[in-house]
Amino acid sequence: MDSAVKTVVGLRCINCGATPDSAGENFRCRSCGDLLEFVFPSWKADPESLKSLWLHRRQSAGQRPCQRLDQSGVWRFRELLPHIPAEHVVTMAEGNTPLYHLQRCARATGVENLFAKHQGMNPTGSFKDTGMTVAASAAHQGGFRWAACASTGNTSASMAAYAARGNLRSLVLIPEGKISWGKLSQSLDYGALTCQLRTDFDGCVRILNELVQRKPVYLLNSVNPYRIEGQKTAAIELLEQLDWEAPDHIIVPGGNLGNSSAIGKALVEMRELKLISRLPKLSIIQAEGANPFYRSVHEFGGKKLEPMAAETLATAIRIGNPASWKKALRVLQATGGQVEQVSEVEIAEAKAEIGADGVGCEPASAVTLAGLKKLRASGFVKPGEMVVLILTGHLLKDPDFTIKFHRGELFAGTTEESRAILTKPLQRPPVVLEADLGAVIAALDSVERNS
Ligand code: F0G
Repeated sequence: MDSAVKTVVGLRCINCGATPDSAGENFRCRSCGDLLEFVFPSWKADPESLKSLWLHRRQSAGQRPCQRLDQSGVWRFRELLPHIPAEHVVTMAEGNTPLYHLQRCARATGVENLFAKHQGMNPTGSFKDTGMTVAASAAHQGGFRWAACASTGNTSASMAAYAARGNLRSLVLIPEGKISWGKLSQSLDYGALTCQLRTDFDGCVRILNELVQRKPVYLLNSVNPYRIEGQKTAAIELLEQLDWEAPDHIIVPGGNLGNSSAIGKALVEMRELKLISRLPKLSIIQAEGANPFYRSVHEFGGKKLEPMAAETLATAIRIGNPASWKKALRVLQATGGQVEQVSEVEIAEAKAEIGADGVGCEPASAVTLAGLKKLRASGFVKPGEMVVLILTGHLLKDPDFTIKFHRGELFAGTTEESRAILTKPLQRPPVVLEADLGAVIAALDSVERNS
C-alpha cells in the first residue's frame, strides 16, 4: 500500500532555480542567497489510493516505529514529504488537530460556513510542531548535537520539545521582554539554553545567521525547508476533514510568512496530484504595526519588501523583516488571495469573539477573524462561501493578554484607549465576592437582568 506514490525529492532555489545537492548551514542558495524549497519532480500518484491509504493509517494502533508514524497527523501524509528513515523520526503524534464550526462568529460576520482549523491543539500548543517534527528529524538524521532558532516564542517552545525528544541540545534566541511567559516557560522546562537578547525578533535572526556559520548548530527557523514541508500537512489534513471539497477561502496570520508559504505550497501540490479539483483562495493577515508584507503588496506591487521596526501586542507576529515573503507572494498569486492588515483593537475584539465561541486562541491567531471582517466588507468574501481560519496558537499561550483585555486594562493609557471602548461588551472581568451564597446569587441575577 505504501507505493501509492513514487517520490523523488530535490532542493531548488526559489529565485535562480539552482538545484543544489544539499542545503548549506543557512538553507540559502549558494549562488544568489535566496531561499530553497523542496520540489517533487517525478510525482506519479493515484489520488484515490492516496486518500484511502491516509485514512487507513489514521486508525493505526501500537508502538512500532511505522505505527507511530501513522499516528502522526504529519507523517501519515509522508508521501508528500521528503523521506526520512523511521529510526530518525522524532514525533509526538502532532497534527491531528480539530476543525470547529464557529457558530457565533459565523453569525457576526454573516459567513454561515465559517470554520477554524485549530493548530493550537498540537503538542506544544502551536502550529510549529507540524514543521518541527520534520526538521528535527532531519537534524537527527544529520547527526547534529545542537539545534537553534530565533523566535517570538512558539518556534522556540516547539524546537525545545522536539530537540529534547530527539536527544539534541537546543539554543533559543528570543527578544527580551517581548514574548509571553507561557512560551518562555516552555523552552525552559524542555531544557533549552534560552538566551533573551536585548533586541527584537529580527535582531535575533541576524545573530543566529552568523552563529550557524561559526558553530555546528542546526538552524530550525522556517527558512529551513523541512519545516515548510511539515507545515504543509495542516492543509492536507484540512482537506481530508472536508472530504476533499476545497473551501472557498483559507485565512492565515502572516509573520515570518513560513506558514502561509507552506499551506499555499500544499494547496498547489494537492491540485497537481488531483487530490482537489480547485484551489481555495489563501489570504494573509498582518497586524497594522507589523505589516511589511501588506505594504510590499499594496505599495510596491510585491516588487520589494522594506523591513520595518515592528510593534504589536500580538507578539508572535511582531516581525519586521519576514524571511519567506517571496514564497508567500507566490502563494497569493497562485491562489488569488489577498493580504490585509488589522488594528490592535480589531485583533483584541476578534480574539474575544473566538473565545466566546468556546474555542479560544492566542492574539496572533485572531488576526484571521479580524481580517475576514475586512474581506467581507470589501466583498472579497461572499456570505455563501466557505471560509476556514487557521488558528495558529492556543489560548493559554498568552494568558496575560486575555486577562488584561477582560479587565479593560489592555489599552489603558494608550492611543487606542478610546477606540477600545467598542470592545467593552465582550469583556468578562472576574468578580471578587465574599464567600456568601447571597452575593453569588446577586451576581447571577445581575447578569441575567442585563443579558
Ligand atoms: N501565529 C503564531 C501563533 C505564531 O507563533 C507565528 C509565528 C505566526 C502566527 C506567524 O507565522 O511566521 O509562519 O508567518 N511565530 C514564529 C515564532 C515567528 O518564532 O514562534 P509565520
